Amino acid sequence: MPSKPIENLMDDHRLIEKVLAAMRRYASALQSGEPVERASIEGLVPFMREFADDCHHGKEEHRLFPMLVERGLPARNGPIQAMCAEHEIGRRLVGDLENAVGRHLDGHADTAGELAATMVAIADFYARHIWKEDNVLFPMADRVLGADEVAGLIAAFDKADGRAGVASRERFVRFARGLVESSDRQNPI
Ligand SMILES: [Fe+2]
Ligand SMILES: [Fe+2]
Repeated sequence: MPSKPIENLMDDHRLIEKVLAAMRRYASALQSGEPVERASIEGLVPFMREFADDCHHGKEEHRLFPMLVERGLPARNGPIQAMCAEHEIGRRLVGDLENAVGRHLDGHADTAGELAATMVAIADFYARHIWKEDNVLFPMADRVLGADEVAGLIAAFDKADGRAGVASRERFVRFARGLVESSDRQNPI
């Protein structure tokens, strides 16, 4: 079983995956010329920036990774550097998403295809990133972290979760759940 801090990061991954799944649904709707709720599209960039990046990548980059380096994992030329480089790519993709959402919601012509392609690129990219952390880096982390470090991470992550955005992690949980529910309404099973 993963330690509590690793479980916390994996819970974040499951929440991010809900939003990635919504992006894939929106992309196929846009490609078929169907409308997508404005509020859902507007919430994607704040979610990816404030939750996936500031809060979640923050916990990894500022808390977990430095501890792993202290425990002997290489800071460079290894999985930690690779994951940090991927976070940078993710930031650039979210910048592309912001531009594509802005153009689409401003009513510029022929923007649905660009927006759909950006959403699919983000969903594909993050799915691979999350897989690597869940299956390679996190099991490695649980092999090297000691009890004191685990306790330190639990406290640090609690603080980060409370600080995410203006309110708390709950705001992002509600957003992700809302996307799932609105898709159920649009596509009743
Ligand atoms: Fe990451
Ligand atoms: Fe992650």
